[in-house]
Formats: sequence, structure tokens, C-alpha cells
Amino acid sequence: MIHLEGVDKSFHGKKVLDGLSFNVKKGEVFGFLGPSGSGKTTTIKLLTGQLKADSGKISVFGKDAGEIAHPDQLQRIGIMTDNSQLYPRLTVRDNLLLFCRLYRVPIRRISEVLEMVDLQDAERTQVAKLSKGMTQRVLLARALLHEPDLLFLDEPTAALDPVTKERIHDGLRKIQEKGTTIFLTTHDMHEAEALCDHVALLHKGKVVEEGSPASLSYRFSSRMIHVKLHGGETVTVENTAEGAEAIYNYMSSGQVVSIHTAEPTLGQVFIEVTGRNLA
Ligand SMILES: Nc1ncnc2c1ncn2[C@@H]1O[C@H](COP(=O)(O)OP(=O)(O)OP(=O)(O)O)[C@@H](O)[C@H]1O
Ligand SMILES: [Mg+2]
Repeated sequence: MIHLEGVDKSFHGKKVLDGLSFNVKKGEVFGFLGPSGSGKTTTIKLLTGQLKADSGKISVFGKDAGEIAHPDQLQRIGIMTDNSQLYPRLTVRDNLLLFCRLYRVPIRRISEVLEMVDLQDAERTQVAKLSKGMTQRVLLARALLHEPDLLFLDEPTAALDPVTKERIHDGLRKIQEKGTTIFLTTHDMHEAEALCDHVALLHKGKVVEEGSPASLSYRFSSRMIHVKLHGGETVTVENTAEGAEAIYNYMSSGQVVSIHTAEPTLGQVFIEVTGRNLA
């Protein structure tokens, strides 16, 4: 779906992307993670024809970067960025109607997309009167109106409460089930773990680690096992034959309360790789 190879991009002599390479497969939710200012939004702009790379190869739907901004291509793409805006004095419905006309989408799609983001009741509400979470969901609904094959979401749930986030996540899962490929940037590691099939960590202009959230956690796990004993003590043993013997002894003497492996979270992996905390 998306292929980048050796992509460079500088602003005023400062290199932001430095040999960036990755692939996004059809149908997956791809999580693009990186600290603030690392170049995530810049990458989305390159992939949606809003910016040109200095060098390297970019293709989307198998077409070269130069063709991305062609109307036929854009028709297949949905974009929601942190600077996407609505007309505040119009109702939700009228905002979406404008986009229906622009994309030549049948008007019945309005109620379909509002249902996807659980906002049927707000159709006649003026946008200025919506909460932040509702506004985010209208923006998501708008990005979905023309049933894009590929959806770019730039921090879609930034600064939202956990319940609203969960609603948006449910909406995104439904969209993925319908076959849409989703490219998502986020600072929220729980979001990445909950939604993404594949994540890539961006650091100093390059992808430094990638894989499924589970495979990254596994790769960075220390293979240590924590055994909690009656009496409150927790002992840590290695995942080896000696460790097994130690656990055997604890268990056979009836001392064990619980046993845990120590898989790191994606957040811990990120800090280990980049030395920076994301959230
Ligand atoms: N149009 C521009 N002109 C000059 N510099 C820019 C421009 N766009 C981005 N930059 C710079 O490029 C770097 C990467 O910016 P970008 O917006 O891609 O980061 P980001 O990873 O999306 O960050 P955030 O998580 O804060 O959204 C920053 O240093 C930013 O100042
Ligand atoms: Mg950004």
C-alpha cells in the first residue's frame, strides 16, 4: 500500500527525515510512533502529496510520489490531521454536506459515517457547540465520507478522555474490518498496543525498530520471571533450567502466590530505543 525507501527531507538545512524506509501492507493498522518534532506529520504530508521529498523513493497504491496529488488518487485517501478544521457556524450535517458535494458522495453516507463514530444525535448541532472529543469524531467522520482505501490519522485521539478514545478505537476497528488500511501517528502507547498490527519507531529521521507490538515487547523482554511468595517477598529468576529448579522448589514448598513474566510495554521499548519518553 505504501512504500518508502531512503527518503530525506530537510527544512532550512535541518534534516528531519534521514533515509526513512518502511512499508505498509494492505488492510493493516500501521502505527508510526516518534517524539514530538521527529517528523511524523511531515511523513504524512509526503505521503499525501502536500510536500515533496528531497530524495528517495515514495509510492502509494503502487504509484510514484509525483502522482499522489492526482484527484483520482486523492479520492482513495482520507486524511485527519491535527490542523483539520470544520466550519464552526454550520451544523455537523452541513459541514459533511459540503464534503459530500466536493467528493461527489451520496448524502446517505452522512448518517452512515455519523453512526460509525457514534454521533447520530449531533447531526443538527452547530459545530461551535460541540465538545473537543465530538469535534474530533466529526473530523474522523468527514475523513471517512468517501470510503477511502487508505486513511491517514495524525494523533486522532490526542487530549481525549479514555471513554471517547475507546469509542474512536471501536470506530477504527470497524473501518479496518471493512478493508481500509490505516496509517496512524500517536503518542499514546496504549493506543498503539490496542489498535496497531504493526508499529514503527521513528528516531533521528529513521525507523529504528518495527514489528507487531507483541513482537517488539518480546524482543526487548529481559526473559526474567518474577515469583511472588507468601510473606510478601518477590524473587526474580532467569528463564533457564536453574530458574525452573528454583521455581520448582518454591512451588513444591507451597510458597508461591503468583508468577509473572516481565514483558515490557511499548512505552518501555520506546524509551530503551530512543532514550526519550513519548507521553
Ligand atoms: N513547513 C515547515 N517549515 C519548516 N520546518 C518545518 C515545517 N514542517 C515541519 N518542520 C519541522 O520539522 C520537524 C518535524 O516536524 P513534524 O511536524 O513532522 O513533527 P511531528 O513528529 O509530527 O511532531 P508532533 O508529534 O509534535 O506532531 C520539526 O522540527 C518542525 O519544526
Ligand atoms: Mg505532528
